[in-house]
Amino acid sequence: MPFIIAIDGPAASGKGTIARALSQHFGFHHLDTGLLYRATGAKGGDAVAAAQALAPEDLARPDLRSAEAGQAASRIAAIPEVRAALVEFQHRFAAQEPGAVLDGRDIGTVICPGAQVKLYVVASDEVRAARRAAELGEDPARMLAELRERDLRDSQRAAAPLRPAADAVVLDTSDLSIADAISRAIAAVDVALRTV
Ligand code: DC
Repeated sequence: MPFIIAIDGPAASGKGTIARALSQHFGFHHLDTGLLYRATGAKGGDAVAAAQALAPEDLARPDLRSAEAGQAASRIAAIPEVRAALVEFQHRFAAQEPGAVLDGRDIGTVICPGAQVKLYVVASDEVRAARRAAELGEDPARMLAELRERDLRDSQRAAAPLRPAADAVVLDTSDLSIADAISRAIAAVDVALRTV
């Protein structure tokens, strides 16, 4: 049975960096599920049809990382039929040997509730805004407002809202270096690997 690491958390909490590092460390496949929603939102038109027709080349668009693409993704992600159209792809990805790391908002709660490791990565609003501003070359105050708006929408929607699974390990990266955050995540996975 493949080993699954589910990583959830709000925008710019560090979950993508941790997910990439874990996939490299353990030799697992990695899927940034936010890209599926960003690519669906960026296609425009009917979001349900866009999600149903999503193709690998849609995920390679260069404009998916922008704040605008994040907002569009967050809006279409609240539509249950959009989420439903993306489930099978995520399940197939998670079924790959020897294991997979998926990061997003609902991986531990909805997509992979049986994951052997669930991490819920958080950081203070100010730290997250500063990180995103540095990454995108944007104004921190604008990023703070953008992140708060997106987190509110993502956590208050009825369909698969952002929240920690009951059995998730919460990792607060506000005061951690990237290296320390990654070591703690690796330690949490090592504990779970010893019991399989
Ligand atoms: O992780 P990200 O910032 O790239 O995600 C962009 C948006 O996509 C996020 O605001 C909400 C949505 N999303 C989601 O609803 N479920 C996921 N598993 C991943 C992302």
